Amino acid sequence: MKVTPLHPSLGAEIAGVDLSRPVDAPTREALGRALGEHLALVFHDQTLTPEQYLRAASVFGPPMEQHYSQHNMPDFPLIGLIWHRNGQQPAEAWHTDHTNRERPPAATILYGVEIPSAGGATSVASMRAAYDALPADEQRRLESLTTFNGLDGKPDTREEDRAKYGHLVEHPMVRTHPVHGSRAVYFHVSKTDHVSGMTPEASKPYLNGLLERMIRPEIIYQHRWRKGDVLVIDNRATMHRAHGDYDRAESRVLWRIIVEGDRPRLA
Ligand SMILES: [Fe+2]
Repeated sequence: MKVTPLHPSLGAEIAGVDLSRPVDAPTREALGRALGEHLALVFHDQTLTPEQYLRAASVFGPPMEQHYSQHNMPDFPLIGLIWHRNGQQPAEAWHTDHTNRERPPAATILYGVEIPSAGGATSVASMRAAYDALPADEQRRLESLTTFNGLDGKPDTREEDRAKYGHLVEHPMVRTHPVHGSRAVYFHVSKTDHVSGMTPEASKPYLNGLLERMIRPEIIYQHRWRKGDVLVIDNRATMHRAHGDYDRAESRVLWRIIVEGDRPRLA
């Protein structure tokens, strides 16, 4: 296994690992450490069945249910289909996944099955670097805040998903990475009902203002997809977004698996 950094802030390419085959214990451990350090891992030229993909994803944690179950692969409900032809819009706002869960995903894993000829990248921003760049008094302020997270009100959300995942879950706005030990800013604007001590109306402009200041080009790795890529994103210390700048006559199909992580905490 060879790890090659892709960008000064985050991202690394992993060579020498065939994810269609079982991954041995030392490699699993090395991959877990590499994810905590580099925050986004890229594997090229993978050919995976849904079963092989689920087994590979479990290297990073147990695959967990996704709450927009209307987009799940029919025979493999732990795999979500990202595809505009089933009515989804590319998620173009910066976010980290499924913050409305008590144990939100440690990682989001994407497998490039159909890739448009131009555009449609996925960008990942290091919220560890974002935290480090804040002035000390603002770091202290964010450390004193929590967010209350629910579903973000997509109109086609199924009733059963609303019932299971619609209640508010509180998380710290700065969390300590369980593997790396560093701190990162952690929130999801549209899943946040409110920030502690703020009204819902005041919370969203506050969070959007933070994003505008914090996410600068130098903390972003942009992944330009090739068919067969697997991109593993560390949700504990990054935010990501999709780029909708591709021709909708072409297809962009990503298979998504999220894997369970720890309960966010500030240590
Ligand atoms: Fe996402």
